Amino acid sequence: MSVTIKSEKEIEYMRDAGKILAQVHEQLSEIIEPGITTMEITKKGEEFIRNAGAYPSFKGYEGYPEAICVSINDEVVHGIPCEEHRLFEGDIVSLDAGVEYKGYQSDAARTYGVGKIDEESERLIRVTRESFFKGIEYARAGNHLYDISRAIQKHAESQGFSIVRDLCGHGIGKVVHEEPAIPNFKPWFKRGIKLVPGMTLAIEPMVNAGTRKVWILDDDWTVITRDGKKSAHYENTILVTENDPEILSL
Ligand code: MF3
Ligand code: CO
Repeated sequence: MSVTIKSEKEIEYMRDAGKILAQVHEQLSEIIEPGITTMEITKKGEEFIRNAGAYPSFKGYEGYPEAICVSINDEVVHGIPCEEHRLFEGDIVSLDAGVEYKGYQSDAARTYGVGKIDEESERLIRVTRESFFKGIEYARAGNHLYDISRAIQKHAESQGFSIVRDLCGHGIGKVVHEEPAIPNFKPWFKRGIKLVPGMTLAIEPMVNAGTRKVWILDDDWTVITRDGKKSAHYENTILVTENDPEILSL
């Protein structure tokens, strides 16, 4: 499938889905505390999504079993919730959620500290979030896609962190993953497609404290850093307009 340009009507649905997802993340942020299991987090998240009249898009997506991806410390993304994994004081935890509402998708992720965390972890979370905002400054009609990628990379690397290259952001609409793929680094000698109003994009920097290299666990989902250092994730679904981008999931 190629890059889709959404109509006004479709944009309304994308806004509704985004609003619901923003609220789900608000609700999830309040249950993050030492002692909670990752299974309890996804169950709560699923309840929040369904209570809003939406559907948890990740559940069953290519066989992924739960509503919320919960990734702790050196887990970059796609951690699978389970009864045995608990949050401890000092951990950082990334929550990635997707909702479908009236046939349209929204995708967003946040990383939180659990209780009191060290300054370096605090900085990793902050820089990852900042990288997203630096990136979307370039999400404007007439710019090229990799202008966003370059700005994300520049900020994260200037702060001494590394950008995961094996996973990307993506277009989003009726399905979670549409074209184009959106790397969080600038591919050599390429500018990417030209941005057009009506494009909806999930921009999602994944930033590592140490090496950018990752492994995938035997569960075929969980992505971890090769050096065991921490990783943070921050994502929103945005709309490209004639002017500033609209952040749909915030
Ligand atoms: N937000 C994730 C991404 O864009 C989607 C996870 S799919 C799931 O890669 F199956 F893991 F839930
Ligand atoms: Co995504």
